[in-house]
Amino acid sequence: MKLWMTAALIFLTGAVRADVLLTEDEIEQTLSFGPWPPSFQSDPSNRFSKDATAIKLGQALFNDPVLSVDGAFSCASCHDPDQAFTTPEARALGRDLLNRNTPSLRNLAGLRWYGWGGKSDNLWAASLHPIIEEQEMAHSAESLKIAISESTYIDDFEAIFGHLQDQSPELFLVNTAKALSSYLETLATDRTIFDDFRDALERRDIAAAKEYPEAAQRGLQLFLGRGKCVFCHNGPRFSNNEFHDAGVPYFLNETEVDQGRFGGLNILLSSPYTLDGNWNDDPEKKGAWAVRNVRRSHSDFGTFRTPSLRGVAETAPYMHNGSLDDLKSVIRHYSKIDTERLHADGEAILSELNLSEQEIADLVAFLVTLSKDS
Ligand code: HEC
Ligand code: HEC
Repeated sequence: MKLWMTAALIFLTGAVRADVLLTEDEIEQTLSFGPWPPSFQSDPSNRFSKDATAIKLGQALFNDPVLSVDGAFSCASCHDPDQAFTTPEARALGRDLLNRNTPSLRNLAGLRWYGWGGKSDNLWAASLHPIIEEQEMAHSAESLKIAISESTYIDDFEAIFGHLQDQSPELFLVNTAKALSSYLETLATDRTIFDDFRDALERRDIAAAKEYPEAAQRGLQLFLGRGKCVFCHNGPRFSNNEFHDAGVPYFLNETEVDQGRFGGLNILLSSPYTLDGNWNDDPEKKGAWAVRNVRRSHSDFGTFRTPSLRGVAETAPYMHNGSLDDLKSVIRHYSKIDTERLHADGEAILSELNLSEQEIADLVAFLVTLSKDS
């Protein structure tokens, strides 16, 4: 740490101990959760990334049931823009009841993996899967092309992607997904009072930092310290975007399990829509090293991608299967975690925290400040 900064932090923690509870170390760690919003580069694998016309088309398609084979529902039916791009059901209802909870689609630009099990390594592939998934929108590339050709989108589509007859059904499908992806990239959660606090600490503006509630500060201290939450929930999105077993049972019934990352890798490694495939628009295929090098291992069973905690108060219920109703239940889950259930070779990091009611309330108070209007 630079000397002037050390001096400033000592000043901060020394002078206002009553109101800014964090130690020098905790302040340092807190700075790593920002700044917010982050800037994102355009996605080199999608040549329509940041293209205003593609974004507009993507948004219209997202909200239109033309993307499901029977015209029954749209992306927005599950990812409702008025409900933080999710819905309150524990498990998503498509043509069947799916095994998983619908994730909120904000802050997805530039991640390495998508989906609870990481079955995609780019955002347009993650947008493509639901269109052709049998349990979701169940189109084929052919039926999608026909449906959109007969819709009012056809002129916009040709203006962006060229003449219909020059697009094979598969190219048409990929183009549709890239328009959706351009739109999804623009979805981000707003700044919150946590960001004001974090930036005040950075500016050494004590008067502003004091505005942040003490309960939330105590929760943040647990998050960084005894709770070890920051081990997985780190960086400006509060996620390392990797796969872990957080002790959520993954049995679907007596005989079947949700394979989590293991199943995600099975799909990823046989998919034509990865960054290593022909549909990547980036001639250098930057980022393809990840899919080229990733290997399946038994310990991937039942691990899921660490969710971002930005906007988390708006997206109950929680976990990959929506099995926990509210944030308090999530904290109780971590507090009483059954370490016997965790992978033997895995998550030495999680242990029973035995939090008091006060500590549970503090952690919830902190998490709530990661959502707007908190
Ligand atoms: C039936 C409800 C449903 C519909 C319809 C649906 N989704 Fe999803 N979506 C889900 C669920 C459930 C997941 C988690 C899937 C998984 O991880 O296996 C998901 C995951 C995603 C992800 C990955 C998010 C992340 O955090 O990595 C993206 C992107 C996405 N959907 C976009 C779309 C788009 C675009 C459409 C329309 C073409 C769509 N979804 C239609 C339920 C739905
Ligand atoms: C070992 C990595 C790890 C640690 C440590 C960890 N988490 Fe998580 N967290 C995850 C994973 C993985 C999930 C998703 C688990 C699942 O769905 O099966 C998750 C889910 C959550 C969720 C639900 C989010 C949603 O959208 O469904 C919250 C809230 C949460 N964690 C908060 C915490 C808090 C608070 C702590 C500290 C007490 C913590 N986590 C510690 C990895 C971790």
